[in-house]
Amino acid sequence: MENKTPEFQKAPFIVDETAGTKFYCMCGRSDNQPYCDGSHKGSGITPMKVEIETDRRCAYCGCRQSSELPFCDGTHATI
Ligand code: FES
Repeated sequence: MENKTPEFQKAPFIVDETAGTKFYCMCGRSDNQPYCDGSHKGSGITPMKVEIETDRRCAYCGCRQSSELPFCDGTHATI
């Protein structure tokens, strides 16, 4: 397995999201942030399943420190 460095960022991922089931990357290794692309395999970390009820703009957490994961709560501004 490729040894990628987790790519966390101190800003949210702003997405015009569509309704449906999404899998939010918790490991930071995905090349398709903020979604899981399977790169977590072997890390012991699993993605977070998210049900989006309606089409809407979402701010997904980029730093993984939010208390409201998978969504941004502004914590990135304090780290
Ligand atoms: S690639 Fe990060 S949780 Fe799956």
